[in-house]
Amino acid sequence: MVQLALPKKSRPTGGKTWNKRPSKTSKTFKIYRWSPDEDRNPRIDTYHIDRSKTGPMVLDGLIKIKNEIDPTLTFRRSCREGICGSCAMNIDGTNSLACLKGMDEVRGAVKVYPLPHMPVVKDLVPDMTNFYAQLRSIEPWLQTVSSTPEHEWPQSHDDREKLDGLYECILCACCSTSCPSYWWNSDRYLGPAILLQAYRWLIDSRDEKTGERLDNLEDPFRLYRCHTILNCAKACPKGLNPAKAISEIKKQMVARRV
Ligand code: SF4
Ligand code: SF4
Ligand code: FES
Repeated sequence: MVQLALPKKSRPTGGKTWNKRPSKTSKTFKIYRWSPDEDRNPRIDTYHIDRSKTGPMVLDGLIKIKNEIDPTLTFRRSCREGICGSCAMNIDGTNSLACLKGMDEVRGAVKVYPLPHMPVVKDLVPDMTNFYAQLRSIEPWLQTVSSTPEHEWPQSHDDREKLDGLYECILCACCSTSCPSYWWNSDRYLGPAILLQAYRWLIDSRDEKTGERLDNLEDPFRLYRCHTILNCAKACPKGLNPAKAISEIKKQMVARRV
């Protein structure tokens, strides 16, 4: 049965305030903290940073806190420019990339939580094990049966354009973790990010395993738990539309039956 409320041990409690407001231009952060090394509930800690001495993005604020106030604060980040997808987290109630979300876009305190409905490794770091296993399950690489050409696999400009809106996905999981169907069935439903990736290979003119790929998705849970609620498209920080990709896969399923 679906569990709607958080288990008692997972409910956040009030936390520590780490410092005083440094100036009138300070910005307050309220950040989810949890460590597997401490036998207690998650807590929400409060930090104030001097806005005039910090870069503009939420990630700049987190880095400042880690460098100057609390080195134990744990989060992922790498590129700082919306390419690697590792800084995905829930900011002010919306799944976002911390490096692309401006601090000043948030009114009042910046509330930062890990991506929802994923197990937490520590603080803002979600456990992506299931997500990556699901990605592996759709075999996201070019598969062919023809003999390998001497040079590259050719593709027309028109066929290449069919990959637009798909190849840009950075696998940040903002969409999947905002999808109610994925919240309740992430053990069996692949979710919008992985299905968008699946469609990226289904529509690639060079790939020769379309039938096998569709067989792999033909399942009441893996594909058909999408109910077109469209949270995924709203959440995508790259402006992609996983729901559309999912509906295209469903069309391909129908087309091969007739
Ligand atoms: S459209 Fe489908 S994949 Fe997207 S949020 Fe809704 S149920 Fe999830
Ligand atoms: S579709 Fe968008 S939100 Fe989903 S994983 Fe790809 S980049 Fe992230
Ligand atoms: S740090 Fe790479 S996407 Fe934000």
